[in-house]
Amino acid sequence: SESPGNYKVRDLSLAEAGRHQIRLAEHEMPGLMALRAEYGEAQPLAGARIAGSIHMTVQTAVLIETLTALGAQVRWASCNIFSTQDEAAAAIVVGPQGTPDAPSGVPVFAWKGESLEEYWECTEQILLWPAGADGEYAGPNMILDDGGDATLLVHNGLAYERVGAVPADTVAGEPDHSDEANVVHALLRRVLQEDPLRWTTIGENILGVTEETTTGVHRLYQLAEAGQLLFPAINVNDSVTKSKFDNKYGIRHSLPDGINRATDVLMGGKVAFVAGYGDVGKGAAEAFRGQGARVIVSEIDPICALQAAMDGYQVARIEDVLDEADFFITTTGNKDVITAAHLSAMKNKAIVGNIGHFDNEIDMAGLALVPGVTRTEIKAQVHEWTFTEGERAGRSIIVLSEGRLLNLGNATGHPSFVMSNSFTNQVIGQIEVFTKAGTDEEYPVAVHRLPKILDEKVARLHLDALGVRMTELSPSQADYLGIDPAGPYKAEHYRY
Ligand code: NAI
Repeated sequence: SESPGNYKVRDLSLAEAGRHQIRLAEHEMPGLMALRAEYGEAQPLAGARIAGSIHMTVQTAVLIETLTALGAQVRWASCNIFSTQDEAAAAIVVGPQGTPDAPSGVPVFAWKGESLEEYWECTEQILLWPAGADGEYAGPNMILDDGGDATLLVHNGLAYERVGAVPADTVAGEPDHSDEANVVHALLRRVLQEDPLRWTTIGENILGVTEETTTGVHRLYQLAEAGQLLFPAINVNDSVTKSKFDNKYGIRHSLPDGINRATDVLMGGKVAFVAGYGDVGKGAAEAFRGQGARVIVSEIDPICALQAAMDGYQVARIEDVLDEADFFITTTGNKDVITAAHLSAMKNKAIVGNIGHFDNEIDMAGLALVPGVTRTEIKAQVHEWTFTEGERAGRSIIVLSEGRLLNLGNATGHPSFVMSNSFTNQVIGQIEVFTKAGTDEEYPVAVHRLPKILDEKVARLHLDALGVRMTELSPSQADYLGIDPAGPYKAEHYRY
């Protein structure tokens, strides 16, 4: 619509509860707080109008208030229908100085338990800004994304404006899910009638995007390869201080958190199956092992399969363990990893969940079509699916968060300290692109990683809090290794 809303959250009276959690999270997010101290005066993001789409959690609240402390204006939505913490959303709308009756914070469009229609309306709202004076463009000029839905909406909107259609396989996160594709198409059709040049205008004014996760980065490289990328992008995920920390150690914490809050079923002594042994899979497998479970991993990549074997895990196919595993967790970022046939052949009361970005890893639509299957809500985001026909009659499985990422659906995502690493990369990425894209050759339209020296800076900002004492390189040692004592310490190809 022409007059964008101010906010849409569950309940502003939750703001005080959210503010207490934000205050405690700030203590656990030294990287973000250090950036506030370093850049608060210089205001490098003054003039930045950031459309942000990341799970609206307490940690994201600290990210948002860091961006505004550096001068940015921000509008925010969650990048998943179940991942919002309503108290954090309320606190951000109310703002540190406002009250629920007179909110003075940031416009947020997010609540836990959105429908798909609401989800895409919220994503639209972060790209709609109040009109500027004298008809001057006052829309977003930066995107901060997680999974790429905001970025894809602009790209697909533009395709829709030009040819009245979008290539079917790029419509939404879940290209095979016609429900979601239909929702996005309906939105694009409406916008075309209301405002025929909206996406062209927004696309022309976006300086760049910083992308949080593996799956979103994958989409950006696909767009760039197809020659369709509209603006420079920073791949935040592949900063070492992001994927080798958040994806691994974050999951090691938040996967068991989600399973415990959802089911409170003991993991020790049980068999846990983890699909995928990338960064997320490594954290997941370690979490189960730490609880005393026997872990079985599946992989399609021989290097990761060998790593899993060397780490002491059995590597098998899902078909081999259907009647053996008590937990089935997908971490692949791939589709159709657990099929309806797999789901209907699992051990009685097996717990099934996904922590990859999109819900296409588990065929939930196929499960609903199994003859005679019934669905019982145990509590929000926990469902028992019972088979009533054939030899499976009477057996059931427990599915978490309807197949959507369970660490955010059933719990509150990764803890603050690890997210401080990820989000410090995000803020540095925003500063890099906003201050440099278009003004020099440093960030042409392509997908970029942050320079290693900045990656090392992010790590450095988190050492004191953990009492780490680093060894100093002597000048002659630095000379011997051929590196600068101030870094970077490793070659680009080093893998950590
Ligand atoms: P990755 O690329 O490091 O790992 C994925 C692994 O899955 C790869 O090793 C790949 O070979 C394997 N794989 C692909 N298809 C498979 C199949 N059919 N069966 C078995 N293995 C298969 O990616 P990463 O960083 O581990 O991320 C995985 C997913 O998790 C992505 O969607 C990412 O966006 C998401 N993510 C979710 C987080 C959360 O908080 N829930 C946090 C970070 C990432």
